[in-house]
Amino acid sequence: MHRGPAVNPEGPEITDLLIDMDPRSLERRPVQKGAVVAELEAQGMRWGAWVARGLPERGEIDRLFVRVHAEMQRLWEEFLQGERMRALLAPLVKALRASGHGGRVRVVDVGCGLGYLVRWLAARGELGAEVELLGCDYNGALIGAAERYRREEGLRCGFRVANAFTLEEPATVYISTGVLHHFRGPSLAELFRQQRGAQAFVHLDIKPSYLAPLGSLLFHVARMREPISQHDGTLSAVRAHPGERLLEAARGAVPSHEVLLFDGEVGRLPILRTMLGVIGLAPGLRGPFVRELGPLAGRLGATQG
Ligand SMILES: C[S@@+](CC[C@H](N)C(=O)[O-])C[C@H]1O[C@@H](n2cnc3c(N)ncnc32)[C@H](O)[C@@H]1O
Repeated sequence: MHRGPAVNPEGPEITDLLIDMDPRSLERRPVQKGAVVAELEAQGMRWGAWVARGLPERGEIDRLFVRVHAEMQRLWEEFLQGERMRALLAPLVKALRASGHGGRVRVVDVGCGLGYLVRWLAARGELGAEVELLGCDYNGALIGAAERYRREEGLRCGFRVANAFTLEEPATVYISTGVLHHFRGPSLAELFRQQRGAQAFVHLDIKPSYLAPLGSLLFHVARMREPISQHDGTLSAVRAHPGERLLEAARGAVPSHEVLLFDGEVGRLPILRTMLGVIGLAPGLRGPFVRELGPLAGRLGATQG
């Protein structure tokens, strides 16, 4: 047994260490379990090293990833992630129309995992036939499962093993959930920089607060079965970027766009707000977007820079 949940806020999540993928060729390089354990130990992450020692052999890792993402899907169901994204995306699509964007709107989910968000939007988003929903992920096992669920559910959306930023037909709008905190330092700015060509982006991630790490630890230990989900889920809340950091990175990387936080005050009990959003809008979109958002626009208020 490990001696207490020692996590290093700047240390990596285990899932990030387990996949070594070239973003250009999408070639997956083999990862040795011993190297993962050694890296976690070197970073003072006793809990993580203990979890990594118990990982299955290499051939089983893809199946483990599918189970971990299924646990994450249950979390997103509880956190109403689909509803949250639709509440922002539907007004955004209307704003695009109002500002003269005709034809198809291509919405690309960056790092879609099992495609929960895209499948939710396809089933219940009511975004219209002219909105194309595409989920991209480097991980073929996750995309394979997403595609299987799409077929079973008979949904009008697509999934692709691809770098979301090098698609032949680029996105009109980039979206994501639970992805931003995986990008640290200069790679966060680089993530935003690659979205310069889009009309807009809407990224949702965990909202950091003094209660989030404890809440996340309790929640993940109570609700998740895989030790790696418990560890990485807890660490996600510790590593979540503060809104100001997201704003600074996005504004610096995409100066042409107006960048806003979707957040708002929650008083003394931050557990009432678990997620925040960072939204980028091409010139001319802000006015129509705010109008279409209606009362929800109040949650953009505190962040106007
Ligand atoms: C923590 S998972 C998030 C899964 C999913 N969004 C969810 O909420 O369940 C992050 C995923 O992002 C993927 N990823 C990161 N950058 C990407 C990119 N540029 N294009 C496609 N996938 C990317 C990784 O392969 C990884 O599976």
